[in-house]
Amino acid sequence: MNATNQAQKLSRFDFLKKMGFSGASLMAVYCGVSLSSCTNEGDLAPANAGGPATYDMSTAAYAKLLNKGSFHVDTANNLVIANTSDNGYVAVTLVCTHEGRKEVSYVANKFSCSAHGATFDNTGKALTVASRALTTYKVSQTGTVLTVNL
Ligand code: FES
Repeated sequence: MNATNQAQKLSRFDFLKKMGFSGASLMAVYCGVSLSSCTNEGDLAPANAGGPATYDMSTAAYAKLLNKGSFHVDTANNLVIANTSDNGYVAVTLVCTHEGRKEVSYVANKFSCSAHGATFDNTGKALTVASRALTTYKVSQTGTVLTVNL
């Protein structure tokens, strides 16, 4: 999907919200308008599903993950990997369980979504706005290499 299509679909979504649709009714109408706009299992699945994703923190691309409280967004695999202060390395889906936006990040020791402010604890459990937990993935570490099992 190119940037123009994404902008048009987001505008449609915002338009429906302004018309008074919310929650499930918003998603039902929105999905009826354009099925490709809706998050589905294909959107949620990591690109490397069935295989591991690795991040070598000795390289500049992932070095920030050595610091507590930092995170990396892997858009290719729809993942957010965070170095949490109390739970070690945690990987969760980039896709928010509230309305499916790919806006999850890690701020102030919890996962959060910038779309509507949903927050999730370091196990992925929903704290505010969203009612369902984020999908989490097992992370293992060998030396400076993190491996996320997808
Ligand atoms: S999509 Fe609404 S808070 Fe993430």
